[in-house]
Amino acid sequence: MKLKNYEKPAVVTCGLPYANGKAHIGHMRTYIPADIYVRAMRKAGREILFICGSDTHGTPVVVNAEKEGVTPKELVTVYHEHFKNLFETMEIEFDAYGTTDDPENYNRTKDIINKNIEANHVFKQKTDVAYCTKCNMFLPDRYVEGICAHCGEIARGDECDQGCGRPLGSGELLNPVCAVCKTPAVYKEQEHYYFKLSDFTKRLEKFLENLKGTENAINYSKGWLEQGLKDWCITRNLSWGIPFPGADDLVVYVWVDAPIGYIAFTEQWAKKNNESWEKYWKENNSDIVHFIGGDIVYHHCIFWPAMLMGAGYSTPTDVVASGMLKIENQKFSKSRGNVVWVEEDYLEQGFHPDLLRYYLAGYTSHTKEVNFSWKIFQDKINTELVAVLGNFIYRSMLFVYRNFGKIPNGEIEPEIIEKSNQTFEKSFEALENYEFKKYIDTIMELAAFGNGYFQSNEPWNLIKTDTKKCEHVLLNCMQIVKSLCILFEPVAPGKMEEAWRNLGFDVSLKSVKYDELTVPLSPGTPINKPEILFKKVEDEKIEVVEKIAQARLSEADIKSKPDKSGKDPKNENEIKSIKKTKNEEESMEENEDIKIITIDDFFKTDIRIGKIVSAEPIPKSDKLYKVIVDVGEENPRQIVSGLRDYYTEEELTGKTVCVIVNLKTAKLRGVESQGMVLAAEDEQGNVRLLTPDEVMKPGSKIR
Ligand code: 2FM
Ligand code: ZN
Repeated sequence: MKLKNYEKPAVVTCGLPYANGKAHIGHMRTYIPADIYVRAMRKAGREILFICGSDTHGTPVVVNAEKEGVTPKELVTVYHEHFKNLFETMEIEFDAYGTTDDPENYNRTKDIINKNIEANHVFKQKTDVAYCTKCNMFLPDRYVEGICAHCGEIARGDECDQGCGRPLGSGELLNPVCAVCKTPAVYKEQEHYYFKLSDFTKRLEKFLENLKGTENAINYSKGWLEQGLKDWCITRNLSWGIPFPGADDLVVYVWVDAPIGYIAFTEQWAKKNNESWEKYWKENNSDIVHFIGGDIVYHHCIFWPAMLMGAGYSTPTDVVASGMLKIENQKFSKSRGNVVWVEEDYLEQGFHPDLLRYYLAGYTSHTKEVNFSWKIFQDKINTELVAVLGNFIYRSMLFVYRNFGKIPNGEIEPEIIEKSNQTFEKSFEALENYEFKKYIDTIMELAAFGNGYFQSNEPWNLIKTDTKKCEHVLLNCMQIVKSLCILFEPVAPGKMEEAWRNLGFDVSLKSVKYDELTVPLSPGTPINKPEILFKKVEDEKIEVVEKIAQARLSEADIKSKPDKSGKDPKNENEIKSIKKTKNEEESMEENEDIKIITIDDFFKTDIRIGKIVSAEPIPKSDKLYKVIVDVGEENPRQIVSGLRDYYTEEELTGKTVCVIVNLKTAKLRGVESQGMVLAAEDEQGNVRLLTPDEVMKPGSKIR
C-alpha cells in the first residue's frame, strides 16, 4: 500500500448555518460529506483542520428574532448551542465551531475591509434603498420581496432564492414590497459602501482556471464571470451586525463577515493550540477547501476570493458544492411543512446518525439533487447496510466468537489483502474527486465480496470436517471485517467503532490510518460477543415517521388556503400571484395565530339566541354568576358564567345574548352549567356580551 505524500495541509470548511432556526436534513447534505472527507483524508495521513461555526448576523437572524419576540443575540445564542450539539450527535467533528459574533470575527472583518479600503477597492456611492413608509424603516435583504429582474421568479431583496439563484443588487428586484406588512416599498436615496468587484475580473478568471472542486461550482462561476461583474454593496441599514469601519450607522453586509468567520475560527483554534492561523490563510502554505450548498456558489467563488485577493490573503483551492434536497420528491419547504428536522423527526425517533450519513452521502452523486423519502430510506438501510455490510460483519464475527472466542489461526490469503488494497485505491480516488457515492459503493462491494467468501466456503460445514481450513477461512473473514471497519469509518464512525472494538482492538478507530489495512490480524486475540450491527428498519417505524411528516404537511396546508378554482395554473404570472397571495395569507395567519377550521367544523357548534331570565352570584366565588337563560326550550337553562367583574345582576337580567347549547354539561363550584354565554374580550381585558343588533326570539339559530 502506497499512501500519497501530501505536500500541504488543508483547512476544510463548511458553509456556516444561520443560527436562526433548527437543523433540518437539508443542512446535513453538506456537512456529512465534508466530515467523511475529513476523516478519510486524515486516514490517508493528511494534516487537516476542520472549521465551521454559526452565522449570526444579517436579516435572516433579525427577521426571525422579531417573529419570535426575542433579541437577535438571544436567538443566536439558542440556535448556536442547538447546532453545536447536533453536529456532535451526528458525529460531525469540527476542530473549531465559533460564531460570527465573536470578537475575533469583528477584528478580522475590520482588517479585511480596511485592507480593501487602503487598496482602493471600496468606494462610497448614493443608491436607492427600499423603504417601508408603514413600518418606517429601510428594507434590507429579507425585509423586502419582489420579482427577480433576471428570471421573473419571486425573490428576496438580496438574492433570487426561488429562481435563478443570483445575488441581487439595487434595481434588480421589481415590484418590491415590505416583507413584514406587504406595503409596496418606496425608494430613498442613501449613501452606502461598495466593493469594486469589477476590478477583479481578470484575477478571478485566473483563479477559476485553477480552482478545483466540483464542476457545478466552477462552471457556474465561469458563466457568471462571462456575463460581467457588478460592484457589490457591502453595507446595510441595520443595528445588528459588525459596524462598518468609519460609518457607525451602517453594518457590514452579512455575506462579508460570514465567510471571514472561517478565518476567525481558525484563529480561535490556533490560539488554543499554540498554532499558526496564517499558515492556512496568509502564506499559501495550505489548501483551502470549502464545502457549501449549491445555492451559495456565487458568494464563495466570486465575492469571497475577490475580497481575499484585495486584502492580500490566500484564496480557496477547492469549492465543493452539494446538490439540493427534495423531500418525498417535493421541493423542500419549511413553510409548507415539507421538512425533516434532524432532532425531532430523526434522532428522537430512535434512528442512529450513521444511517442518515449513509443515505445522504451515498444515494446520489454529491452534485445532484437528492430525494429523501422515508420508504427509500428504509429500503436502502434494509437491503444494503443491514443485508450486506451488517450481515457480513455480524454473521462472521458471531460464528468466530461462538466457535473460537478469538481471532483464529491461519494464513491471510494474498487475494484478500489485494482486494482490500484495490478497494482502498478505488474508493479513495473517488473521495479525492468528491464522488461520495462511488466511494461508498466501492466499499460496499468489498462487503458483498466478504458475504460471498463466507457463504461459498461454508464454515458451518468445515467446522465439522476440517477445523484447520475453517479457522483459515474465518481468519480471512475477520481480516475483511478489519478492512471494512477502517474503510467505512468515515461514513459510519459510530457503528464501525463498535465492530472494531469487538474485533479486540483498544485503540480508537478514528485514529487508525489506511496503511493498517494490510497489517494481518494477530491470531489468538480475544474477540467480544458481537451485537447486531445494523438493525432492520421495521414498517411500523416508517409508518410513525410518515405520519409525523403527514401531520406537518396538513398543518401547513390548513394555514395556506388552497386555490379552489380547480384550474391548472399554467400561466407563470398566475403562479406568481398565487404564490404571493399564499405567502401573504401564510404570514397573516402565522402572525395572528388563527387556526383555520371548515364550515362543517363551525356548524358542529349549536349557538342560539337566549334571553337572560335572572342572574345571581355563586357563593364562595368572586367571579361567577348562576345565570338562568331562556333558549326557546321547554325549560330555561342554568349556565355558570364569569361575568361578575363586568355586569351587575340587574344589567344582565332581560338581556338578549348568544348561547352555545350543545356543550357538554360541566360543574363549576358545584353548580351545573348547561351551556355557555358568549362574550368578547379586548386586549385591555374589557368584556362585553355578544348580542344581536335587534331583539330576536329565544331559540333562534346562529348561522
Ligand atoms: O446560506 C447560508 O445559510 C449562509 N449562512 C452560509 C454562510 S457560508 C459562509 F460564507 F459563511
Ligand atoms: Zn432570478
